[in-house]
Amino acid sequence: MKILILGVNGFIGNKLVKKIMNSTGWEVYGMDLSCSKLSHSIDNPRFHFIEGDITIHKEWVDYHVKKCDVILPLVAIATPAHYIKEPLQVFELGFEENLRIVRLCVKYGKRILFPSTSEVYGMNSDPEFSEDKSNFVLGPIKKQRWIYACAKQLLDRVIWAYGTEGKLDFTIFRPFNWIGPKLDDIDAAKEGSSRVVTQFIINIVMNEPIRLVDGGMQKRCFTYIDDGINCLMKIIENKNNICRGEIFNIGNPNNECSMRELADRLLALYRRHPETEAYSVSTSEIIEVSSDKYYGEGYQDISTRKPSIKKAQELLCWEPVVDLNSALEKTLDFFIEESRVKGLLCA
Ligand code: UGA
Repeated sequence: MKILILGVNGFIGNKLVKKIMNSTGWEVYGMDLSCSKLSHSIDNPRFHFIEGDITIHKEWVDYHVKKCDVILPLVAIATPAHYIKEPLQVFELGFEENLRIVRLCVKYGKRILFPSTSEVYGMNSDPEFSEDKSNFVLGPIKKQRWIYACAKQLLDRVIWAYGTEGKLDFTIFRPFNWIGPKLDDIDAAKEGSSRVVTQFIINIVMNEPIRLVDGGMQKRCFTYIDDGINCLMKIIENKNNICRGEIFNIGNPNNECSMRELADRLLALYRRHPETEAYSVSTSEIIEVSSDKYYGEGYQDISTRKPSIKKAQELLCWEPVVDLNSALEKTLDFFIEESRVKGLLCA
Protein backbone atom coordinates (compact mmCIF):
# COMPACT_ATOMS: atom_id res chain seq x y z
CA MET A 1 0.00 0.00 0.00
CA LYS A 2 1.18 3.55 -0.77
CA ILE A 3 0.21 6.26 1.69
CA LEU A 4 0.50 10.01 1.19
CA ILE A 5 0.87 12.09 4.36
CA LEU A 6 0.78 15.87 3.98
CA GLY A 7 2.14 17.54 7.11
CA VAL A 8 4.22 14.43 7.81
CA ASN A 9 6.57 16.22 10.23
CA GLY A 10 3.75 17.10 12.62
CA PHE A 11 2.91 15.52 15.95
CA ILE A 12 0.63 12.86 14.44
CA GLY A 13 2.41 12.52 11.08
CA ASN A 14 5.85 11.71 12.42
CA LYS A 15 4.54 9.09 14.85
CA LEU A 16 2.41 7.50 12.17
CA VAL A 17 5.37 7.15 9.78
CA LYS A 18 7.46 5.63 12.53
CA LYS A 19 4.77 3.05 13.27
CA ILE A 20 4.22 2.25 9.58
CA MET A 21 7.96 1.80 8.98
CA ASN A 22 8.35 -0.44 12.04
CA SER A 23 5.29 -2.63 11.66
CA THR A 24 4.27 -2.87 7.97
CA GLY A 25 5.71 -3.09 4.48
CA TRP A 26 3.76 -0.02 3.31
CA GLU A 27 5.40 2.89 1.54
CA VAL A 28 4.90 6.47 2.69
CA TYR A 29 5.25 9.62 0.60
CA GLY A 30 5.36 12.72 2.76
CA MET A 31 5.69 16.47 2.43
CA ASP A 32 6.34 19.06 5.11
CA LEU A 33 8.19 22.32 5.67
CA SER A 34 10.90 20.49 7.59
CA CYS A 35 11.97 16.99 8.65
CA SER A 36 13.03 17.92 12.19
CA LYS A 37 10.92 15.18 13.82
CA LEU A 38 11.60 12.47 11.25
CA SER A 39 15.14 11.27 12.03
CA HIS A 40 13.68 7.84 12.98
CA SER A 41 12.48 7.15 9.42
CA ILE A 42 14.23 9.52 7.05
CA ASP A 43 16.78 6.91 5.89
CA ASN A 44 14.21 4.17 5.40
CA PRO A 45 13.93 3.33 1.68
CA ARG A 46 10.14 2.96 2.06
CA PHE A 47 9.83 6.55 3.27
CA HIS A 48 9.95 9.20 0.55
CA PHE A 49 10.18 12.67 2.08
CA ILE A 50 10.22 15.95 0.26
CA GLU A 51 10.68 19.29 1.95
CA GLY A 52 8.03 21.64 0.64
CA ASP A 53 4.89 23.67 1.16
CA ILE A 54 1.58 22.17 -0.03
CA THR A 55 0.36 25.66 -0.90
CA ILE A 56 3.25 26.05 -3.38
CA HIS A 57 4.18 22.55 -4.57
CA LYS A 58 0.77 21.84 -5.99
CA GLU A 59 1.98 19.70 -8.88
CA TRP A 60 3.85 17.38 -6.52
CA VAL A 61 0.73 17.03 -4.40
CA ASP A 62 -1.50 16.40 -7.40
CA TYR A 63 0.88 13.74 -8.79
CA HIS A 64 1.15 11.95 -5.44
CA VAL A 65 -2.58 11.93 -4.72
CA LYS A 66 -2.86 10.16 -8.09
CA LYS A 67 -0.01 7.78 -7.28
CA CYS A 68 -1.01 6.75 -3.73
CA ASP A 69 -3.84 4.60 -2.36
CA VAL A 70 -4.63 6.39 0.91
CA ILE A 71 -4.33 10.14 1.53
CA LEU A 72 -3.93 11.78 4.95
CA PRO A 73 -4.05 15.60 4.76
CA LEU A 74 -2.69 16.46 8.22
CA VAL A 75 -1.71 20.08 7.51
CA ALA A 76 -3.46 22.52 9.88
CA ILE A 77 -2.82 25.10 12.59
CA ALA A 78 -4.14 23.43 15.74
CA THR A 79 -3.42 25.80 18.64
CA PRO A 80 -6.25 27.93 20.09
CA ALA A 81 -4.03 31.01 20.54
CA HIS A 82 -3.62 31.06 16.74
CA TYR A 83 -7.35 30.75 16.09
CA ILE A 84 -7.73 34.15 17.72
CA LYS A 85 -4.51 35.83 16.54
CA GLU A 86 -4.44 34.47 12.97
CA PRO A 87 -7.97 33.32 12.09
CA LEU A 88 -7.53 33.82 8.34
CA GLN A 89 -4.34 31.76 8.30
CA VAL A 90 -6.23 29.01 10.15
CA PHE A 91 -8.95 29.15 7.49
CA GLU A 92 -6.68 29.40 4.45
CA LEU A 93 -4.46 26.53 5.44
CA GLY A 94 -6.92 24.36 7.36
CA PHE A 95 -9.90 24.83 5.07
CA GLU A 96 -8.93 26.06 1.60
CA GLU A 97 -5.85 23.89 1.15
CA ASN A 98 -7.55 20.80 2.52
CA LEU A 99 -10.62 21.33 0.33
CA ARG A 100 -8.27 21.17 -2.64
CA ILE A 101 -6.93 17.82 -1.41
CA VAL A 102 -10.46 16.50 -0.84
CA ARG A 103 -11.32 17.40 -4.44
CA LEU A 104 -8.18 15.72 -5.76
CA CYS A 105 -9.22 12.54 -3.92
CA VAL A 106 -12.61 12.77 -5.62
CA LYS A 107 -10.96 13.38 -9.01
CA TYR A 108 -8.59 10.41 -8.76
CA GLY A 109 -10.92 8.09 -6.82
CA LYS A 110 -8.62 7.88 -3.76
CA ARG A 111 -9.41 6.98 -0.18
CA ILE A 112 -9.09 9.93 2.21
CA LEU A 113 -8.60 9.69 5.97
CA PHE A 114 -9.54 13.12 7.18
CA PRO A 115 -8.49 14.53 10.57
CA SER A 116 -11.51 16.33 11.98
CA THR A 117 -11.32 17.47 15.60
CA SER A 118 -12.91 17.12 19.01
CA GLU A 119 -13.46 20.90 18.72
CA VAL A 120 -16.39 20.42 16.33
CA TYR A 121 -18.65 19.46 19.25
CA GLY A 122 -17.94 22.87 20.74
CA MET A 123 -19.83 23.75 23.92
CA ASN A 124 -22.23 20.81 23.73
CA SER A 125 -23.18 19.65 27.25
CA ASP A 126 -23.64 15.92 26.49
CA PRO A 127 -21.78 13.81 29.07
CA GLU A 128 -20.11 12.01 26.14
CA PHE A 129 -19.89 13.17 22.53
CA SER A 130 -21.28 10.78 19.95
CA GLU A 131 -20.02 10.93 16.35
CA ASP A 132 -23.47 10.45 14.87
CA LYS A 133 -25.79 12.01 17.46
CA SER A 134 -24.20 14.95 19.27
CA ASN A 135 -24.95 18.51 18.16
CA PHE A 136 -22.26 21.03 17.33
CA VAL A 137 -22.51 24.09 19.57
CA LEU A 138 -20.29 27.00 18.51
CA GLY A 139 -20.34 30.58 19.78
CA PRO A 140 -21.00 33.89 17.99
CA ILE A 141 -18.83 35.11 15.10
CA LYS A 142 -16.91 37.58 17.25
CA LYS A 143 -15.65 34.60 19.23
CA GLN A 144 -12.98 33.76 16.67
CA ARG A 145 -11.84 30.70 18.56
CA TRP A 146 -14.44 28.73 16.63
CA ILE A 147 -13.01 29.35 13.17
CA TYR A 148 -10.97 26.15 13.41
CA ALA A 149 -13.94 24.03 14.52
CA CYS A 150 -16.17 25.66 11.91
CA ALA A 151 -13.66 25.04 9.08
CA LYS A 152 -13.26 21.42 10.12
CA GLN A 153 -17.00 20.98 10.45
CA LEU A 154 -17.62 22.27 6.93
CA LEU A 155 -14.94 19.98 5.52
CA ASP A 156 -16.53 17.04 7.39
CA ARG A 157 -19.85 17.96 5.75
CA VAL A 158 -18.34 18.36 2.28
CA ILE A 159 -16.59 14.98 2.59
CA TRP A 160 -19.80 13.39 3.85
CA ALA A 161 -21.73 14.84 0.89
CA TYR A 162 -19.21 13.53 -1.64
CA GLY A 163 -19.44 10.17 0.15
CA THR A 164 -23.22 9.97 0.02
CA GLU A 165 -23.12 10.79 -3.69
CA GLY A 166 -20.79 7.81 -4.13
CA LYS A 167 -17.89 10.03 -5.23
CA LEU A 168 -15.51 9.59 -2.29
CA ASP A 169 -14.23 6.74 -0.15
CA PHE A 170 -13.55 8.36 3.22
CA THR A 171 -13.09 7.91 6.94
CA ILE A 172 -13.16 10.90 9.30
CA PHE A 173 -11.38 10.69 12.65
CA ARG A 174 -11.56 13.07 15.61
CA PRO A 175 -8.57 13.15 17.96
CA PHE A 176 -9.40 14.14 21.55
CA ASN A 177 -6.46 15.98 23.13
CA TRP A 178 -3.71 13.63 22.06
CA ILE A 179 -0.48 14.21 23.98
CA GLY A 180 3.04 12.83 23.93
CA PRO A 181 6.60 13.59 22.82
CA LYS A 182 6.89 16.27 20.09
CA LEU A 183 3.39 17.62 20.83
CA ASP A 184 4.43 21.24 20.23
CA ASP A 185 7.68 23.06 19.59
CA ILE A 186 9.37 24.40 22.70
CA ASP A 187 9.84 27.78 21.06
CA ALA A 188 6.07 28.17 20.68
CA ALA A 189 5.64 27.24 24.35
CA LYS A 190 8.24 29.83 25.35
CA GLU A 191 6.07 32.43 23.66
CA GLY A 192 2.99 31.13 25.49
CA SER A 193 1.08 29.83 22.47
CA SER A 194 1.19 26.04 22.93
CA ARG A 195 -1.42 23.49 23.80
CA VAL A 196 -1.87 23.13 27.49
CA VAL A 197 0.35 20.14 28.36
CA THR A 198 3.43 21.51 26.58
CA GLN A 199 2.66 24.97 27.93
CA PHE A 200 2.50 23.85 31.57
CA ILE A 201 5.66 21.72 31.24
CA ILE A 202 7.70 24.55 29.74
CA ASN A 203 6.35 26.96 32.39
CA ILE A 204 7.51 24.51 35.06
CA VAL A 205 10.94 23.96 33.47
CA MET A 206 11.47 27.73 33.15
CA ASN A 207 10.24 28.48 36.69
CA GLU A 208 7.43 30.60 35.33
CA PRO A 209 3.92 30.69 36.77
CA ILE A 210 1.47 28.10 35.48
CA ARG A 211 -1.54 30.11 34.36
CA LEU A 212 -4.98 28.59 34.83
CA VAL A 213 -7.37 30.20 32.40
CA ASP A 214 -10.65 31.26 34.06
CA GLY A 215 -10.00 29.19 37.19
CA GLY A 216 -8.90 25.93 35.57
CA MET A 217 -12.01 23.85 36.26
CA GLN A 218 -12.51 23.05 32.55
CA LYS A 219 -11.85 19.42 31.71
CA ARG A 220 -10.28 17.47 28.86
CA CYS A 221 -9.66 13.76 28.25
CA PHE A 222 -6.00 13.33 27.40
CA THR A 223 -5.09 10.53 25.03
CA TYR A 224 -1.60 9.13 24.68
CA ILE A 225 -0.30 9.40 21.11
CA ASP A 226 0.54 5.65 20.84
CA ASP A 227 -3.08 4.76 21.60
CA GLY A 228 -4.27 7.19 18.95
CA ILE A 229 -1.78 5.88 16.38
CA ASN A 230 -2.86 2.26 17.04
CA CYS A 231 -6.42 3.26 16.25
CA LEU A 232 -5.33 5.10 13.10
CA MET A 233 -3.44 2.01 11.94
CA LYS A 234 -6.63 -0.02 12.19
CA ILE A 235 -8.44 2.64 10.18
CA ILE A 236 -5.74 2.56 7.48
CA GLU A 237 -5.87 -1.29 7.41
CA ASN A 238 -9.66 -1.03 7.02
CA LYS A 239 -10.40 -4.76 7.36
CA ASN A 240 -13.52 -5.76 5.38
CA ASN A 241 -13.90 -2.10 4.41
CA ILE A 242 -15.43 -1.52 7.87
CA CYS A 243 -14.32 2.13 8.11
CA ARG A 244 -15.75 3.33 4.81
CA GLY A 245 -18.04 6.32 5.33
CA GLU A 246 -17.59 6.26 9.14
CA ILE A 247 -16.59 8.94 11.64
CA PHE A 248 -14.55 7.85 14.68
CA ASN A 249 -13.81 9.69 17.91
CA ILE A 250 -10.33 8.69 19.03
CA GLY A 251 -9.85 9.53 22.67
CA ASN A 252 -9.50 8.14 26.16
CA PRO A 253 -12.61 8.87 28.26
CA ASN A 254 -10.88 7.43 31.35
CA ASN A 255 -8.20 10.11 31.30
CA GLU A 256 -10.45 13.06 32.12
CA CYS A 257 -8.95 15.79 34.25
CA SER A 258 -9.37 19.50 34.98
CA MET A 259 -6.64 21.98 34.09
CA ARG A 260 -6.06 22.59 37.80
CA GLU A 261 -5.55 18.89 38.40
CA LEU A 262 -3.30 18.74 35.33
CA ALA A 263 -1.10 21.51 36.76
CA ASP A 264 -0.89 19.73 40.13
CA ARG A 265 -0.05 16.40 38.54
CA LEU A 266 2.67 17.82 36.28
CA LEU A 267 4.26 19.76 39.13
CA ALA A 268 4.32 16.64 41.31
CA LEU A 269 5.75 14.49 38.51
CA TYR A 270 8.40 17.09 37.72
CA ARG A 271 9.46 17.48 41.33
CA ARG A 272 10.12 13.77 41.73
CA HIS A 273 11.61 13.25 38.26
CA PRO A 274 15.13 11.71 38.49
CA GLU A 275 16.50 13.92 35.68
CA THR A 276 15.61 17.15 37.43
CA GLU A 277 17.24 16.34 40.77
CA ALA A 278 20.50 17.94 39.64
CA TYR A 279 18.64 21.13 38.80
CA SER A 280 16.91 23.58 41.01
CA VAL A 281 13.42 22.43 42.00
CA SER A 282 10.84 24.31 40.01
CA THR A 283 9.43 27.24 41.90
CA SER A 284 6.48 27.64 39.54
CA GLU A 285 3.35 28.83 41.24
CA ILE A 286 -0.14 28.15 40.01
CA ILE A 287 -1.95 31.40 39.29
CA GLU A 288 -5.31 32.28 37.76
CA VAL A 289 -5.74 34.49 34.71
CA SER A 290 -8.82 35.58 32.80
CA SER A 291 -9.28 34.25 29.26
CA ASP A 292 -9.61 37.84 27.99
CA LYS A 293 -6.15 38.55 29.27
CA TYR A 294 -4.60 35.23 28.24
CA TYR A 295 -6.10 34.79 24.76
CA GLY A 296 -8.06 37.98 24.05
CA GLU A 297 -11.76 38.65 23.67
CA GLY A 298 -12.16 36.20 20.77
CA TYR A 299 -11.83 33.26 23.16
CA GLN A 300 -14.57 31.00 24.44
CA ASP A 301 -13.97 27.69 26.17
CA ILE A 302 -15.32 24.16 26.37
CA SER A 303 -16.04 23.13 29.95
CA THR A 304 -16.10 19.34 29.43
CA ARG A 305 -15.21 17.26 26.41
CA LYS A 306 -15.44 13.52 26.70
CA PRO A 307 -15.60 11.17 23.71
CA SER A 308 -17.87 8.21 23.31
CA ILE A 309 -15.51 5.63 21.78
CA LYS A 310 -18.08 2.85 21.47
CA LYS A 311 -17.85 2.87 17.70
CA ALA A 312 -14.06 2.43 17.64
CA GLN A 313 -14.31 -0.23 20.35
CA GLU A 314 -16.96 -2.21 18.49
CA LEU A 315 -15.96 -1.82 14.85
CA LEU A 316 -12.18 -1.69 15.27
CA CYS A 317 -11.73 -3.71 18.50
CA TRP A 318 -9.60 -0.80 19.71
CA GLU A 319 -9.06 0.23 23.30
CA PRO A 320 -6.87 3.05 24.66
CA VAL A 321 -4.54 1.58 27.31
CA VAL A 322 -2.21 4.33 28.55
CA ASP A 323 -3.45 5.93 31.77
CA LEU A 324 -3.18 9.65 32.47
CA ASN A 325 -0.13 9.57 34.74
CA SER A 326 1.86 7.37 32.36
CA ALA A 327 0.90 9.58 29.42
CA LEU A 328 2.01 12.70 31.32
CA GLU A 329 5.23 11.04 32.51
CA LYS A 330 6.23 10.03 28.98
CA THR A 331 5.45 13.50 27.66
CA LEU A 332 7.36 15.11 30.53
CA ASP A 333 10.39 12.85 29.97
CA PHE A 334 10.60 14.03 26.38
CA PHE A 335 10.29 17.72 27.13
CA ILE A 336 12.76 17.59 30.02
CA GLU A 337 15.32 16.05 27.68
CA GLU A 338 14.53 18.66 24.99
CA SER A 339 14.86 21.45 27.54
CA ARG A 340 18.21 20.08 28.71
CA VAL A 341 19.50 19.97 25.12
CA LYS A 342 18.28 23.52 24.51
CA GLY A 343 19.85 24.76 27.75
CA LEU A 344 16.58 25.71 29.41
CA LEU A 345 17.23 23.58 32.51
CA CYS A 346 19.72 25.39 34.68
CA ALA A 347 21.74 23.85 37.51
C1 UGA B 1 -7.46 21.70 21.33
C2 UGA B 1 -6.92 22.33 20.05
O1 UGA B 1 -7.91 23.12 19.43
C3 UGA B 1 -6.51 21.31 19.06
O2 UGA B 1 -5.21 20.87 19.37
C4 UGA B 1 -7.38 20.11 18.91
O3 UGA B 1 -8.14 20.14 17.74
C5 UGA B 1 -8.26 19.78 20.05
O4 UGA B 1 -8.41 20.70 21.07
C6 UGA B 1 -7.81 18.46 20.65
O5 UGA B 1 -6.59 18.28 20.85
O6 UGA B 1 -8.66 17.63 20.96
P1 UGA B 1 -8.05 22.77 23.65
O7 UGA B 1 -8.24 21.45 24.30
O8 UGA B 1 -8.91 23.87 24.14
O9 UGA B 1 -8.20 22.67 22.07
O10 UGA B 1 -6.53 23.22 23.69
P2 UGA B 1 -5.45 23.56 24.79
O11 UGA B 1 -4.70 24.74 24.26
O12 UGA B 1 -4.62 22.36 25.06
O13 UGA B 1 -6.24 24.04 26.09
C7 UGA B 1 -6.88 23.18 26.98
C8 UGA B 1 -7.42 23.99 28.14
O14 UGA B 1 -6.32 24.49 28.91
C9 UGA B 1 -8.27 25.20 27.76
O15 UGA B 1 -9.36 25.28 28.61
C10 UGA B 1 -7.34 26.38 27.99
O16 UGA B 1 -8.02 27.57 28.33
C11 UGA B 1 -6.51 25.88 29.17
N1 UGA B 1 -5.15 26.49 29.29
C12 UGA B 1 -4.31 26.53 28.25
C13 UGA B 1 -4.76 27.00 30.52
O17 UGA B 1 -5.53 26.98 31.51
N2 UGA B 1 -3.51 27.55 30.64
C14 UGA B 1 -2.63 27.59 29.62
O18 UGA B 1 -1.49 28.10 29.81
C15 UGA B 1 -3.04 27.06 28.38
